[in-house]
Amino acid sequence: MDVKSTLETCYRSIESKMPFQPKIALVLGSGLGDYAQRLKVEQSIDYRDIPGFPTSGVPGHKGRFLFAHIHNLPVVLMQGRVHYYEGYSMEQVVLPQRLMAMMGAEILLLTNAAGCLNPAFQPGELMLIRDHIATMIPSPLRGPNVPEWGERFPDMSDVYDARLRKIFLQAGEETGMPLREGVYIQLPGPQYETPAEVRMCRLLGADAVGMSTACEAVAARHIGMLVCGVSCLTNFGSGMTEVPLNHAEVQKMGRQVTGRFEKVIENAIEKISGFVIGEHA
Ligand code: HPA
Repeated sequence: MDVKSTLETCYRSIESKMPFQPKIALVLGSGLGDYAQRLKVEQSIDYRDIPGFPTSGVPGHKGRFLFAHIHNLPVVLMQGRVHYYEGYSMEQVVLPQRLMAMMGAEILLLTNAAGCLNPAFQPGELMLIRDHIATMIPSPLRGPNVPEWGERFPDMSDVYDARLRKIFLQAGEETGMPLREGVYIQLPGPQYETPAEVRMCRLLGADAVGMSTACEAVAARHIGMLVCGVSCLTNFGSGMTEVPLNHAEVQKMGRQVTGRFEKVIENAIEKISGFVIGEHA
């Protein structure tokens, strides 16, 4: 089945379960999935109950859509995402973002855990993604273009929306968690980088490295969503310190930052709700 038909099948299977049309889609990254516990969830749909939907098997990654109002804004949350390293095609990896666009979401907020490459930044800090490098991974737009979604050669000069970035920077200031700002590079994973690869990424101008997000942002921009991304810097890139990397440590740091990260997100969504509701008033 082609990607458009798969997506339509997915949409048809969840349409009747959706309690509302979401305005915002929020992807919760590693260690940040617990945010959902604080919300009044109105509906939950497991990925495995959606025919054709790619499901994640990574420990610590749950797999479901949650529907909840945050500051009166209808939000669909992804608790757990799908990664390229799990063996899916890029097309399958970005199916959830396209599906959320189909649900009605106009804004996509992406969060992730990432390795810190900029020595001026610290693990435990949040980095707002100003731009990304996605050339180390296949494009999610490879293959026949679907004109209803977007252009064959979409512009990528402002993937991360300037207005949303400003909102997040303000939210960080107001909640006592000032955000760093930088370039995110996506590598295919699942192995962490070698010290030589970390040096390469730094030379290319990246401030953070991860295994998700950039492909999702590309697909979302293609389909016309406004995108914003925040990385939780969980560790220094390999070779930058003596400590070897492991998934448990990355998750632990993710969990330590959760409380502060939640405050930033809540504050930002409140601000977004001001302009979204204002626009439609
Ligand atoms: N590299 C790649 N992905 C990551 C890292 C890292 O150091 N930390 C968290 N996700």
